[in-house]
Amino acid sequence: MRTQVCIVGGGPAGMLLSHVLARANIDSVVLERQSKSHVLERIRAGVLEHGSVELLREHGLAERMDRDGLVKDGTLIVWHEKDDFFIDTARWTGKRMMAWGQTAITEDLYAARERDGGQIVCEADDVALHDVTGNPYVTYTKDGANHRVDCDFIAGCDGFHGPSRQAIPADVRREFERTYPFGWIGIMVERPPLQKLVYAYHPDGVAIASQRNPRLSRYYVQAPMSDKPEDWSDERFWEALLNRLPDKLANQVETGPSIEKSMAPLRSFVAEPMRWGKLFLAGDASHIVPPTGAKGLNLAFSDVFYLSRALIHHYVEASDHYLDCYSEMALRRVWAAEKISWWLTRLLHVFPNADPFDEKLRQNDYDQLLRSEPAQHALAYEYVGLPFEK
Ligand code: APR
Ligand code: PHB
Repeated sequence: MRTQVCIVGGGPAGMLLSHVLARANIDSVVLERQSKSHVLERIRAGVLEHGSVELLREHGLAERMDRDGLVKDGTLIVWHEKDDFFIDTARWTGKRMMAWGQTAITEDLYAARERDGGQIVCEADDVALHDVTGNPYVTYTKDGANHRVDCDFIAGCDGFHGPSRQAIPADVRREFERTYPFGWIGIMVERPPLQKLVYAYHPDGVAIASQRNPRLSRYYVQAPMSDKPEDWSDERFWEALLNRLPDKLANQVETGPSIEKSMAPLRSFVAEPMRWGKLFLAGDASHIVPPTGAKGLNLAFSDVFYLSRALIHHYVEASDHYLDCYSEMALRRVWAAEKISWWLTRLLHVFPNADPFDEKLRQNDYDQLLRSEPAQHALAYEYVGLPFEK
């Protein structure tokens, strides 16, 4: 098989890239290790930056989102024994966000590629990248048979555990990492959500109220890394959540049986560079953010914006300018998202063994948000997502 761009990984990054390239008549093949139903069952974050919303609209992927997604002017932070604070993105940036889940976006992406005759190979085993600085090709097995895809470029969109990042030689690749000593227990529940997205700081740990659509709510509570979803009965979860929310919000929460429960670890990770020869990384293959701020999916989409523009310029305008600056440009935005995710994580969580000096600084950051308009503006600007670079 021969294609222009071989895309490893059919998560949101790989599927959006394939879709955007197809609209510019650039041919791609997506190789996905899992079955389609497995990919579509994964429940992930659900808050879209303004830029992600616009990108989906521009590429004809917004019909369901614009019908069922919930437009948000910002996010509320409530704090045990302090005043509330609203990250007012509408006021400070003129931009709004959208509560709309990755699961639904991925469903729409698969439907669009199938409608348009896209080549998606699911259950592709043993995917391996070859000659990435020369004449690249990718091999895989399916149903016991060996296959080879020759291509001009490889897009590594295969998430944190995929093989693409490892194809960058160890002496070239630099990795930066921070882990946190806690995770988030999350549940999905078929009940109407709170009106606002809420982060609640409480001495027992943070609680988060989020949403997917007018009938579906998503909630999280901070828990020790060693906890498993089985340790958290629905009863225990609701008790912790309601205790961590102030009464005025707790009274509005509609509890019910969870339809999904999971544990998400918190980690910050960046691998540089994002390009090696003809290989380009996008999304979780190159970086992970902790869920605080919900930047993961948005970063995957901004990488796809930069990478699709670069490939379109290569094929349509015969210019490699954007390919050559892809890694540098994408990484500037990646680090901005890493910074805001780390900052919000530090602000809102209870750190076991916190140093009292750090603790004072953390509390002071919140006091600044309550009082300083420049601090409010800066947070709203970063939270809503940096504009894509020209
Ligand atoms: N061969 C082929 N495909 C692979 C391989 C492999 N060896 N390893 C992983 N994959 C696939 C995974 O099965 C998955 O479907 O690559 C895909 C990567 O998808 P995601 O992990 O969703 O990553 P990405 O598309 O970059 O999207 C990032 O998704 O994980 C969330 O929080 C993250 O919201 C962020 C967004
Ligand atoms: C979610 O809706 O799943 C969500 C919301 C806010 C976050 C993380 C995840 O910070």
